[in-house]
Amino acid sequence: MIVLGIETSCDETGVAVYDTVAGLRAHALYSQIALHAQYGGVVPELASRDHVRKLVPLVRECLAQAELSLSDLDGVAYTAGPGLVGALLVGAAAGRALAFALDIPAIGVHHMEGHLLAPLLEDNPPKPPFVALLVSGGHTQLVDVRGIGEYALLGETLDDAAGEAFDKTAKLMGLPYPGGPHLARLAGEGRPGVFTFSRPMTDRPGLDFSFSGLKTQVLLAWQQSDRSEQTRADVARGFEQAVTETLAIKCERALRQTGHRTLIVAGGVGANRRLREHLADMARRCRVQVCFPRPEFCTDNGAMIAFAGALRLAAGQGEPASVAVRPRWDMAELVPVA
Ligand code: KG4
Ligand code: ZN
Repeated sequence: MIVLGIETSCDETGVAVYDTVAGLRAHALYSQIALHAQYGGVVPELASRDHVRKLVPLVRECLAQAELSLSDLDGVAYTAGPGLVGALLVGAAAGRALAFALDIPAIGVHHMEGHLLAPLLEDNPPKPPFVALLVSGGHTQLVDVRGIGEYALLGETLDDAAGEAFDKTAKLMGLPYPGGPHLARLAGEGRPGVFTFSRPMTDRPGLDFSFSGLKTQVLLAWQQSDRSEQTRADVARGFEQAVTETLAIKCERALRQTGHRTLIVAGGVGANRRLREHLADMARRCRVQVCFPRPEFCTDNGAMIAFAGALRLAAGQGEPASVAVRPRWDMAELVPVA
């Protein structure tokens, strides 16, 4: 089955073609970073309009890369949420319309399930059960994955998501949007141990997170410092160390609690090098396996949506993209109103 995947939930237009036999055939991404940079964050209306401009050319580019034409597609998967509603509607409308025109099924994919399944796009994919750490701009969750589509939340952030904490902290220190990757790059030049920040909520049991207090600690340390370039890098290093160690501590706890031997990591912060190092250390020490997607599939992309959608479409879960009216319709089939 050959499935076109469309991702337009935020500031990245992602398109991919996934083949359930041959694997990933093509993927293309257009990032709106330059568009939003001057505003210091994503402007939803501008994001929607840019998806409209870029989506169709990207679909063409992707099909050309895969040496396929529209008539080769067997299904369409698009991100149906969570995300910016205007941006989501662009992908959903285009995906549904395309599926309707081609008379093939379409399916709305959960963006976080897309992220969660991204590590399975790599060679030797792990099999459930496993623990998933989802760390993006909007989510920080530990999930008990018993099977594909069988997800139980083990813990989540009570305030800022990990990516959000990176972005806000970067902004406080005068770094450009998007802050996370900039802060991570700067932290690479910082000296470990010059600044030490707390590891929130690691001193008590449980698998929830809280990152909003960290940015205040960082702001105070930064304001009271000499504000030199080296100090900025040292503060960034201390912040990154605190976040990544906290995430690693909770992952270890989640593995102990569930008894699972595999951890998968996904979402934008999963691209962070220090987080990968901490988790690899923990995996060696605890003799568990840790799996990451390649960095470009940690952040938003069409491949994860094509893949997640293909699994469900292949299981017969798609709906034909048509307007449904029924000549025969038993009233007993209706769902109760309340
Ligand atoms: O998964 P994603 O692309 O979009 C959402 O679904 O939110 O994640 C974006 C988040 C942003 O907050 C970004 O700053 C963060 O991931 N991020 C990073 C790195 N690369 C992206 N944070 C820390 N280190 C990185 N290398
Ligand atoms: Zn995402």
